[in-house]
Amino acid sequence: MLRPFPAFRSRRMRKYTWSRTLTCEHRLHANNLILPVFVHDHPNSQPIPSMPGVQRHSLEDLRRTCEQAKKCGIAAIALFPVIDTQHKDATGSFALKEENILIQALQTLQKDKLELGLITDVALDPYTTHSHDGILQEDGFVDNDKTIAVLAQQACLQAQAGADIIAPSDMQDGRIKAIRTRLDQKNFYEVSILAYTAKYASNFYGPFRDAIGADGLQKNHTCIQDKKHYQLAPSNSREALDTATQNLYEGADCLMVKPGLPYLDIIQTYHQQTQAPIFAYQVSGEYSMLHLLAKHTKQDPNKLIHEALLCMKRAGAQSMLTYAALDIAKYLASQ
Ligand code: PBG
Repeated sequence: MLRPFPAFRSRRMRKYTWSRTLTCEHRLHANNLILPVFVHDHPNSQPIPSMPGVQRHSLEDLRRTCEQAKKCGIAAIALFPVIDTQHKDATGSFALKEENILIQALQTLQKDKLELGLITDVALDPYTTHSHDGILQEDGFVDNDKTIAVLAQQACLQAQAGADIIAPSDMQDGRIKAIRTRLDQKNFYEVSILAYTAKYASNFYGPFRDAIGADGLQKNHTCIQDKKHYQLAPSNSREALDTATQNLYEGADCLMVKPGLPYLDIIQTYHQQTQAPIFAYQVSGEYSMLHLLAKHTKQDPNKLIHEALLCMKRAGAQSMLTYAALDIAKYLASQ
């Protein structure tokens, strides 16, 4: 309906803080946030130079961080392991070993009973020397069917160690079905699956690959140096919907869109065209980019990050993963 000026003036309701509050359509809460955390098998935490304020945590620091997250009202953490080079191989076999730091961390955190959701990453890239998310064929492509069989085992090991939500980020075909089937066979029918459904072959993952030492793609000149043969092309949105339909049919409980800010249209499409909960991942490159902007323009990074997250919520995401979850939770509490 046309509301013509001057009878209608949009500025009336924008004038005061209270009137802006009354007309506010979306609000970000600490409990919309998920904190991704890196853990390594070392006694001390170590800063990650390309991600201001983010650390590879020692197990003890991880426990403290989780306690803090819970206190701030954060709903869940997403755990990512940093695997020492001597444990990496071509097939990522350390992913299935109970002594790996991810499994160790899960077992410890589960005992802490913090009532904080524990989300784990299912993919082989932290464990492989070439940094691909699966096992390679002789021609250098990821072997889809061999890989999903291993991912299903990886998921079960994580569930057994205490994971509440299994999050496959590998982007192989049929992995949701393979994981769901195996989890159910082992009686883990209460463990959820958060599918990285619209995971794009993005250039925004650089700092994350630094963080977990997944530098095999650049170093290893015998393998394909990008993930375009399994991740989505940034040009495609219809394909993202197709993948969502497939993932939901196979048993995904929630859908992930990743990266977040450049892909708001995908979040909106999922919101309009599916009934599943939607999570958006503000990835490492988005986080570092906003920090750099804040530094160069002398702004509070929290304001920039908060705005970006709120936009993801407006587009239709229920929850967001952000490396700034603790900062934003504190920022929200101070408003
Ligand atoms: C791979 C994985 C990646 C991220 C999470 N899981 C990177 C990749 O696909 O190479 C990136 C997250 C981020 O950039 O914050 N399993």
